[in-house]
Amino acid sequence: MSTATTPTAYNYKVVRQFAVMTVVWGIVGMAMGVFIASQLVWPELNFGLPWTTFGRLRPLHTNAVIFAFGGCALFATSYYVVQRTSQARLVSDGLAAFTFWGWQAVIVLAAVTLPMGLTSSKEYAELEWPIDILIAVVWVSYALVFFGTIMKRKMKHIYVGNWFFGGFIITVAVLHIVNSMAIPVSLTKSYSLYAGATDAMVQWWYGHNAVGFFLTAGFLGMMYYFVPKQAERPIYSYRLSIVHFWALIAIYIWAGPHHLHYTALPDWAQSLGMVMSLILLAPSWGGMINGMMTLSGAWHKLRTDPILRFLVVALAFYGMSTFEGPMMAIKTVNALSHYTDWTIGHVHAGALGWVAMISIGSLYHLIPKVFGREAMYSTALINTHFWLATIGTVLYIVSMWVNGITQGLMWRAVNVDGTPTYSFVEALEASHYGFIVRAIGGAFFLIGMLLMAYNVWRTVRHSKAANLEAAAQTA
Ligand code: HEM
Ligand code: HEM
Repeated sequence: MSTATTPTAYNYKVVRQFAVMTVVWGIVGMAMGVFIASQLVWPELNFGLPWTTFGRLRPLHTNAVIFAFGGCALFATSYYVVQRTSQARLVSDGLAAFTFWGWQAVIVLAAVTLPMGLTSSKEYAELEWPIDILIAVVWVSYALVFFGTIMKRKMKHIYVGNWFFGGFIITVAVLHIVNSMAIPVSLTKSYSLYAGATDAMVQWWYGHNAVGFFLTAGFLGMMYYFVPKQAERPIYSYRLSIVHFWALIAIYIWAGPHHLHYTALPDWAQSLGMVMSLILLAPSWGGMINGMMTLSGAWHKLRTDPILRFLVVALAFYGMSTFEGPMMAIKTVNALSHYTDWTIGHVHAGALGWVAMISIGSLYHLIPKVFGREAMYSTALINTHFWLATIGTVLYIVSMWVNGITQGLMWRAVNVDGTPTYSFVEALEASHYGFIVRAIGGAFFLIGMLLMAYNVWRTVRHSKAANLEAAAQTA
């Protein structure tokens, strides 16, 4: 066996660092989610301070869960997968370490500046220009490490998981750089280079593809490696995975205008966004079916393997949210759903059900391997985590559907003389119980993450003890 194929030849240090920080930032970001969800139930929790208001903590939540939790999960898994499927060590340990520390610096800067109210006001791109430049530098370094490793691979073939990771890395670089173009007026304030409807279009081209490439393509890369590994079955159809890849990246990029229905954006652009979103159902479900069918002949493993359950339920939520998304992109449906909690429910079906569940499942598979252990400390705890996460997600999305449809119907109800039947406050009152259920669902999910942290800590601690024991025996 060549040294390149032995685990010690891989750079697992950076994988371990990103994996542990995924759990840490997951807890921070979701605790923030539970906190802002509670603010909507008990507004007193705003404490009357500018730094702790919903308006400032909400972007802190979205940045923490998407870029800190999701981002660290993507770094950890992509560095792990690219090394193992290329049978090559990362091209540069120094640059890989820079991506870790650089990314943590971005997260800390976000945690400081967002509560201070420093924001470019672009959703999911709120950070001000100096941090944007740091993100661009870290991201280009990430691309160099990832593609550099692909280039020194030992085999001819590039595994499909790497195609998805690669597509995600390149597209996010382009989206971030184009959307963040701004004219700085001071160290902490800048104005977008674009104006009016153009600014909105660029922003939602970015925003939707942040969903398509950050929250989807990267996690599909994860899916294509960890589902077959955990199920111990080959991927159902390699040919379908290639069609899935090209169809997904070719169609996602056009769907952004569905965020701008009934706005000043030209009508043809809105209709194009709607049609492309409907077509997007096909590649999304193609990928979901490919993942699910990989379990053919291995379904019985679901009875005993909670890690596999995480991965399969993630695929089910992926299928659900990518069915719901195209429906919400239909203009007449969007007329009801837009601005309501339905959108929030859809977001978290994807975010909790798909993104968080696939990351958690993949981490439970990966952590023992990179810490030199046979398995996680406790399978029973993984199982409890699975049920907390699943029930939490269902409580979250069902309460938001009920709220969303109630709000949409109450806002559009009119009396015979054309005046609104309900005031805004009446619709808010009707949403109160849904907000309570959502906060409870979020708390379930968060408790599951705390169990995960304990389980990881025990696994890692054992690994240190085991290493010391082995060293002592050798001595
Ligand atoms: C414990 C779990 C979580 C809770 C309780 C929670 C709660 C919330 C709340 C209360 C909001 C604000 C909704 C509003 O403006 O009315 C929100 C927004 C959001 N959250 Fe979460 N969240 C959680 C986990 C996550 C995760 C894991 C992700 C992503 C991976 C995520 C992504 C988002 C996004 C993208 C938004 C903005 C939605 C929009 O503007 O349409 N959340 N969340
Ligand atoms: C075929 C796939 C999908 C389509 C066509 C789609 C479509 C849509 C539509 C029409 C909206 C509502 C826009 C509005 O009224 O403002 C929306 C919002 C959103 N979706 Fe999806 N969706 C898809 C999959 C997903 C997935 C898998 C995720 C998460 C992982 C996700 C995350 C979001 C987020 C974060 C928003 C809220 C954006 C905002 O207003 O802040 N979507 N999506």
